[in-house]
Amino acid sequence: MNRQLRLRRNITQGEAVSLDLFDMTESAIPSPGEGQFLVKTAALGTSPAQRAYLMGSESRFHPPLSIGEIMRGRGVGEVIKSNHKDFKEGSYVACSTGWQDYSIQDGDQTRMPVKTLQKIHNPQDPLYLHLGTLGASGFAAYFGLLDIGMPKAGDTVVVSSCAGGVGSLVAQIAKLKGCRVVGIAGGPEKCAWIKNTVGVDAAIDYKNDDIDAKLQEYCPDGVNVYFDNVGGNILDMVLKNLAIKGRIIICGLISTEYHEPPLPGPRHYYNLIYKRARMEGFFVWDYFEQFEAAETDLMNWYKQGKLKPTERVFKGLEAAPEALQSLFAGVDTGIKVIEL
Ligand SMILES: NC(=O)c1ccc[n+]([C@@H]2O[C@H](COP(=O)([O-])OP(=O)(O)OC[C@H]3O[C@@H](n4cnc5c(N)ncnc54)[C@H](OP(=O)(O)O)[C@@H]3O)[C@@H](O)[C@H]2O)c1
Repeated sequence: MNRQLRLRRNITQGEAVSLDLFDMTESAIPSPGEGQFLVKTAALGTSPAQRAYLMGSESRFHPPLSIGEIMRGRGVGEVIKSNHKDFKEGSYVACSTGWQDYSIQDGDQTRMPVKTLQKIHNPQDPLYLHLGTLGASGFAAYFGLLDIGMPKAGDTVVVSSCAGGVGSLVAQIAKLKGCRVVGIAGGPEKCAWIKNTVGVDAAIDYKNDDIDAKLQEYCPDGVNVYFDNVGGNILDMVLKNLAIKGRIIICGLISTEYHEPPLPGPRHYYNLIYKRARMEGFFVWDYFEQFEAAETDLMNWYKQGKLKPTERVFKGLEAAPEALQSLFAGVDTGIKVIEL
């Protein structure tokens, strides 16, 4: 049978993710039609973007998720039956599987305006690494930092949500490139983790510290590169402390996204003028054609022990709601994945 987690009800703005938002149903394992293939899910990822589905909101590339639909999400798995010439049985893919044991894929990638169905050429054990350190989180960290941020050895790089999935990888890659890294995270435990496990040079606890004062203390010559996962007040405080020719990478805005009415923008953006600085957003799927090359770099660093995976693994499809709850409540460090 194919177990599926379906959305039972929507959440409202600001409402915490609770475990009762989904119903587990079962149906027969589907058969692939002409040009289709069947994927058996091995693991599922989590993403702040999934909040839009829970709220019934339109997201960047998807229509609202209706009540009763299978929860949307990215997964990795094996092709176990195929009527598609490019996807052989026994091969592996990462794609939008949804929260279910089996999914039908068509490989033509027409469901999104960008490509997201990725062939896994070099499957690693455990496979969930291809959703995290060696997958979408790793690619967001890699391209955002290196392509948009262009860090140089000796630069001071500040990373928000540094104890999170993308942030913990950004910090490690910045260290690999010879930068000084200041991580921002919520609470003393997370700050200890980013110092001791991720390896940042200094940590700011945005829930208890004066962010502005700490940035002045840890970045006396200003912030050369800021990798922003959160937006809001933290972005504003970094804008205030930019170095000349600083670069701000806008990756995400978990602190303000989906807020209605939208919150006011940063007050200190004028500093982009005074510091001749740049602020640029990016979208990881635009780099789709370069994923394989990035995976090679990430995998080499991983195998050499230079990039530590930070996956927190939840076990079983039934644990997917708990993993998402953990992401939004900020309970755990690192990348939240579900191993089926
Ligand atoms: N541009 C792209 O293509 C792209 C691709 C992937 C991901 N993203 C974005 O990248 C960001 C990171 O993604 P991720 O999957 O690694 O998630 P994540 O950082 O693990 O997100 C969860 C963490 O966000 C932090 N957080 C929650 N509310 C916050 C708030 N109000 N202020 C500050 N921090 C808050 C919490 O950490 P604390 O306990 O430290 O608060 C929580 O642990 C997200 O914004 C995501 O949307 C963008």
